[in-house]
Amino acid sequence: MQTKRTIIISNRLPIRIEKQDGKLLFIPSEGGLATGLGSYYKKGGSIWVGWPGYIPETPEEEQLIREELARHNLIPVFLSAQELEDYYEGFSNEILWPICHYRLSYAVFEKSYWAAYQQVNQKFCDATLAQHITEKDEIWIHDYQLMLLPQLLRQQNNYLTIGYFQHIPFPADEIFRCIPWRNELLKGLLGADLIAFHTYHDAQHFLNSCLNLLHLSPKNNSVRCRDRRVHVEVFPMGIDFEKFEQLSKSADVLSRVQALREQYQNRKIILSIDRLDYSKGILERLAAYENLLQTYPELRNRVVLYMLVVPSRDNVAQYKLLRDEIDRMVGHINAVYGSDEWIPITYFYNSLSIEDLSALYVAADICLVTSLRDGMNLVCKEYIASKSQQQDGVLILSEFAGAAKELPETIQINPYSIDDITEAIHLALYMPKREQQQRMKSNITLVKKFNISHWVKLFFNRLHEIKREQKAHA
Ligand code: UDP
Ligand code: G6P
Repeated sequence: MQTKRTIIISNRLPIRIEKQDGKLLFIPSEGGLATGLGSYYKKGGSIWVGWPGYIPETPEEEQLIREELARHNLIPVFLSAQELEDYYEGFSNEILWPICHYRLSYAVFEKSYWAAYQQVNQKFCDATLAQHITEKDEIWIHDYQLMLLPQLLRQQNNYLTIGYFQHIPFPADEIFRCIPWRNELLKGLLGADLIAFHTYHDAQHFLNSCLNLLHLSPKNNSVRCRDRRVHVEVFPMGIDFEKFEQLSKSADVLSRVQALREQYQNRKIILSIDRLDYSKGILERLAAYENLLQTYPELRNRVVLYMLVVPSRDNVAQYKLLRDEIDRMVGHINAVYGSDEWIPITYFYNSLSIEDLSALYVAADICLVTSLRDGMNLVCKEYIASKSQQQDGVLILSEFAGAAKELPETIQINPYSIDDITEAIHLALYMPKREQQQRMKSNITLVKKFNISHWVKLFFNRLHEIKREQKAHA
């Protein structure tokens, strides 16, 4: 008898492949979905289907990659250059991403993108079916790149157990309705038994779209879709708390922290870590930092902004423009305010090892999250988990990040107001240790309790409950 398997499906696998000097490298993927679920996945016996971020040069190389990934239960879906252009960069990141992050003017409604999106969702469906899935398996589809997949799989077998989680915001229906293929996308999602979001507002926005676009009336956070009731619920994602806590105590990380402290001497470190993305409010953050140095000249030479930006989607026009603008602003601030002994901003455009990330979190006096829209934002939770030893430090958190709803003991800002960010940094710089500790302790308790295992458990408990109810009413 076949045992139950969990099949995770996402556009990106938790491992990405790069070729350097003719050698294939298998590197952990960046981004909240891969980092968050990546550590849970290693503990269980699941299969993960997704794109490995690389186009093999020969059939032999493709086979080698398949075999290597199979050793970790990872099933690659290879995408051609054209598919990447139209499905990944195009439909996913030039339509869905800007629309879901309220950047309507950045959306490019190309018909060819839609054709590719359908084709690649079908490709993911075929790759999943090739795993001989049955009703015993539980299928967990992740994120906006695969909105059609729930229904494609449902068409194959009406009895499959299918969950969908959206890691990015779901916008107000008045924004979502701008997408020419909005109804097809909604119907695609409704193939799932359980559709989940990080926040209450995302779930409500989705239900409003079902009502106003498909004329399906929500009842108790669910909609009836032909013979099935589809549930729409909220599960805020957590992190692997223990991993960040352990790292922050390790000798290796502590020696890196020491090196950072020596490098920056007594200056306060303001840390920001994000993928290159216009949703993260990086330009607003830089403007606020400049405003801080202008308004409070006594802070010059006493603070440093350590800004790590991880390369992301750099073939997409808006991302290229953003990168140029960041370079320009960082250059400007460092040139105007810097001196022989002080560079106001330390800026890196690359990704770091987990040990280096951990050391930055431990060393930082302030973590500054200025997202203009963010599904959840795991960086802020990683900062909190990394502070479980000293229990100090201040988190400044955008009210537009999903995490803001869960972490009231943070300084919350409206990142559209440069003055608001500036004053929050000023407040954080002078916050008494005791207040820092009080707030941090309460944040630590929350992030520790609602961790990644808790999130996965809640999601599956609910999915199983829904399936039991379906069977009882069949
Ligand atoms: N991250 C990483 N390498 C880096 C910098 C960041 O793997 O060099 C990770 C970071 O630890 C976090 C994730 O990238 O887990 C970013 O997730 P978040 O939810 O903050 O934003 P997203 O990228 O998903 O929009
Ligand atoms: C966010 C999205 C993920 C995505 C990640 C990295 O976390 O929710 O779906 O994988 O960003 O983006 P990328 O385009 O590099 O996969």
